[in-house]
Amino acid sequence: MLSDPVRTDPVRWNWLAALADTGWAVAYDVVPLQLARDLLAEAQQLHGEKMLTIAGVGRADDYQQDRSIRRDKIRWLNARSTPQAAYLDIMETVRLAVNRALFMGLFSYESHYAVYEPGAFYARHRDAFKGARNRVLSTVFYLNEDWKTGEGDLDDGGALAIFSDDEALVPIIMVPPEMGTLALFLSEDIPHEVLSARRDRYSIAGWFRVNDRLGAPSLQAPVLPGTLPL
Ligand code: OGA
Ligand code: MN
Repeated sequence: MLSDPVRTDPVRWNWLAALADTGWAVAYDVVPLQLARDLLAEAQQLHGEKMLTIAGVGRADDYQQDRSIRRDKIRWLNARSTPQAAYLDIMETVRLAVNRALFMGLFSYESHYAVYEPGAFYARHRDAFKGARNRVLSTVFYLNEDWKTGEGDLDDGGALAIFSDDEALVPIIMVPPEMGTLALFLSEDIPHEVLSARRDRYSIAGWFRVNDRLGAPSLQAPVLPGTLPL
């Protein structure tokens, strides 16, 4: 089993400093436990009602459901339920804290519940294309109580593996999806993967965007020399 470098490295307790330093961070004290439990109950209820649906990859005309890449089921959050509204309020405080400390200019946030059923995974990927300025900061909040990280039968799998680059064989860190854990990382820079889970694995994945008032397509246009950066 991996030792727990996150909890033993004091700098990691300051997630804003860690994020600035390395492009990723893990925080444990952002969302109150009772709210995390309420979110889990809601996610389980929605899953029981078959309200989580197979996730896809790509955008708009390039959208496809590719089971070789990802096998989670999702449902987008909105502020109509009490726990979802409370979660979105907390992520607003995260947005303001990141902007204050790191000047990232985060503007909006979108997030979805996800369940990875036994055998589900998400192959190594980044959450945004380099330079797209589309999704800039990713968050994943985990909702699973007593997640096992031992050997063999004592391992529930499903860790988030964070890599230094696309080819690295060994992750920098494996984050168990334990209730109350919040992972944050730069969407364009950090390759990551969800290892196959052995029991239902619940989370809320989310992305902060910068202001795309010019429209997403123009954000992807090449920036020509002499033009203003977007
Ligand atoms: C994603 C993702 C990671 C996780 O949804 O893009 O990488 O740990 N999720 O669930
Ligand atoms: Mn991802």
